[in-house]
Amino acid sequence: MSTDQLSIQSTLGLPNSPDYIPQLGFGVYLSPPDKCVKSCLKALEAGYRHIDTAQYYENEESVGRAVRESGVPRQDVYLTTKILSAGDDVDATYQKIVDSVEKLSGKGGYVDLFLIHSPNGGEKARKLMWLALEKAKEATIVREIGVSNYGIQHIEEIKSIGKIWPPAVNQIELHPWCQQRDCVEYCNRNNIVVEAYCPLVRNDKAQDETLLEISKKHNVSTNQVLVRWSLQNGLVPLPKSDTPSRIVSNADVYNFNLNEGEMARLNALDQGDGGAIVQAVSNK
Ligand SMILES: NC(=O)c1ccc[n+]([C@@H]2O[C@H](COP(=O)([O-])OP(=O)(O)OC[C@H]3O[C@@H](n4cnc5c(N)ncnc54)[C@H](OP(=O)(O)O)[C@@H]3O)[C@@H](O)[C@H]2O)c1
Repeated sequence: MSTDQLSIQSTLGLPNSPDYIPQLGFGVYLSPPDKCVKSCLKALEAGYRHIDTAQYYENEESVGRAVRESGVPRQDVYLTTKILSAGDDVDATYQKIVDSVEKLSGKGGYVDLFLIHSPNGGEKARKLMWLALEKAKEATIVREIGVSNYGIQHIEEIKSIGKIWPPAVNQIELHPWCQQRDCVEYCNRNNIVVEAYCPLVRNDKAQDETLLEISKKHNVSTNQVLVRWSLQNGLVPLPKSDTPSRIVSNADVYNFNLNEGEMARLNALDQGDGGAIVQAVSNK
């Protein structure tokens, strides 16, 4: 599909799955519980249909409440959360997943996508969490399972752990200054959807000359250019905001198109791992 056909309803296919993930997501890291309900309601009103939370963010209940209060049917909203750490064994780890599903969707509910938040807990923890996620998928309380902050070797390791490969997505830090090209190429080759966290670089690059020039040319904000750059690169950006006007504007990115030259100028801003503000993956 050409990039000028992108819309807020655009989705991407997932590996070995009949499901599609809405390409634009809404991030809720550092969104306090009360505010999070309001922000998610605003996001759903603005047309986002995909919300990205995590056990670590301590706002899963707020996300669930907002979906119920929004009036948008549950099956029309794509909900992602992430397991933070393993329990003592697979069953104890599985219980942590059940707790999150209940917070987001109530008893008998489901989560669309459940990720391992980070590989940093070590090999044993990665194995326990993956096996518990497979169990949750089998129990149909989770539709798809994936990873976050995983480098190439971490993803390869999964082949020797369980039955399901590849993971549906890898959620990593990704913006023009940190493009993680090796990992992205590997994911693309294996049909793993790449989700871009910190797609706005937390507004740190608002004064960057290239970004300002391109945004002025299109009469849009620097953050709108960053979201559009992600979308045109086939990524799943997860912009976060607790500010109603920004929630709306960050999704209002479907009435302009970055041309090849502009994409090339933004692509040339890559600083490799040094451009990360949270963490670049380790591919070895
Ligand atoms: N898997 C992981 O390890 C991981 C790590 C980090 C993030 N994530 C996910 O990715 C999401 C996005 O990353 P992020 O929240 O770290 O960073 P981000 O989306 O790049 O930036 C969010 C920050 O930018 C501000 N902002 C948003 N829109 C703006 C606008 N139009 N103009 C000016 N400032 C604006 C927000 O402020 P206000 O809220 O005050 O508007 C907030 O401080 C997270 O919420 C989370 O869901 C995952």
